Amino acid sequence: MGKKIVIQPVSRIEGHAKIIIQLDDTGNVADTKVNVVELRGFEKFCIGRPVEELPRIVTSICGVCPWSHHLASAKANDAVFGVEPPPAGTKLRDLCNSIAFTEEHILHFFFLAGPDFVMGPDADYSVRNVIGIAQTHPEIGQKVVRNRHLGAEILEIVSGKSIHPVTAVPGGFSKPLTKAERDKVLPMAEEVLEFAKFSIAFAKESIFPKYLDTVKTLGVINTGFMGTVTDDGTLNVYDGKLRLMKPDGSYEDFAYEQYTDYISERIQDWSYLKFPYAKSWGDGFSMDIDDPKGIYRTNALARINVADKMATPLAQKEFEEFRAAFGRPAQLTLLYHWARLIELLYNAEHVVELLNDPEITSTETRVPVTPRASKGIGCTEAPRGTLIHDYETDEKGLVTNVNLIVGTTHNNAPINMSVNQAAKTLIKDGNYDQGILNMVEMSIRAYDPCLSCATHNLDGRIAVCVDIVDADGNLKDSFKN
Ligand code: MG
Ligand code: NI
Repeated sequence: MGKKIVIQPVSRIEGHAKIIIQLDDTGNVADTKVNVVELRGFEKFCIGRPVEELPRIVTSICGVCPWSHHLASAKANDAVFGVEPPPAGTKLRDLCNSIAFTEEHILHFFFLAGPDFVMGPDADYSVRNVIGIAQTHPEIGQKVVRNRHLGAEILEIVSGKSIHPVTAVPGGFSKPLTKAERDKVLPMAEEVLEFAKFSIAFAKESIFPKYLDTVKTLGVINTGFMGTVTDDGTLNVYDGKLRLMKPDGSYEDFAYEQYTDYISERIQDWSYLKFPYAKSWGDGFSMDIDDPKGIYRTNALARINVADKMATPLAQKEFEEFRAAFGRPAQLTLLYHWARLIELLYNAEHVVELLNDPEITSTETRVPVTPRASKGIGCTEAPRGTLIHDYETDEKGLVTNVNLIVGTTHNNAPINMSVNQAAKTLIKDGNYDQGILNMVEMSIRAYDPCLSCATHNLDGRIAVCVDIVDADGNLKDSFKN
């Protein structure tokens, strides 16, 4: 075997990962792996807890995506207790979810992905980072910080806490929004909407046209897609039915409670991250980039692909332009960035719309619940993909089983495939440099993975792997338990 290239850590993503690229004797790529080198394990240690505590416990899965876990868990609790929150309770949850979306999408586009496009993929890593953005585009850097701060402040006023929230409870939302609070946050939300409009206009004018060739080639794979839509096919990030689309654009809709009929999870002995695949397609699972089987993607590009339309006017206009340009489903991996900005605009519009809804300040925000032995599934769209929380309880309301499928987990196989495609395309005859390795990383960044959210595999196959290497980095021995 030839040389092994290790990219560690993969930078400007949430969480910790390394990429291993194995070259053959001729210096061409034989194999690649994306190793996620952390483990959260919440599927195991939520067991035995009172189920109503889970919406607060699961926020600790991730400091970046606490709202997504909080809300999916609250929805699973609604199902466990067999209750439906009153309209204002649902709207307050929906509001918080969309505010969190705006914060996350702004962060990703400008600070995590932005340096690759503003400084260029092969700029030196010492400037290809958030400091580089702040130095070359100080006015944009300031706006990004301000708009992320506005999102956090709105969440704090609406729910008391911007991270690790506690207000979504079984049966609704524990803190009604007063009219005075609404009047205070509305102008903030309007400012975020202005920044969302600026962001997509800026990207379409100054960023995307420069990189169309890269978009057409980097990390490109052919897959299906999954996301949430309402009954009439409108994109929705808080609630709806799941739509699972095949690579040819045909699709099936189903209630998220039936997810186990459509998707299944595989385990590989080299990752703490499971590998979901579309079992309903009936052709198994393969990450072979030339002949993939059962592979679908989630997150922004997936949602834009599966939706028939958008719920707000400005986002609808952008959606139509995107679909006319790239078709359905759009497969080019770097189009995730464009799709994310359409979603930023949608969520910013949606937040303003919800705050202008008179019902949002209703004091009827929750209904009472009583414990029972049950099973409940909650599902929302997280910024990084479809998020499923599946709980079972005993008659005292204590949790007996938990399954989580996190947004990034769905994209585990696609991320591995995009990295494989990028490495095979870019590394030839042993030739590569820092810019090429960064382009391989860019094929991961497009997915905006949140790895610490997603690693819950403790199914007895692996917990620790110890590699013993010599002074030159050659593997001498390896132990797995
Ligand atoms: Mg799971
Ligand atoms: Ni996360």
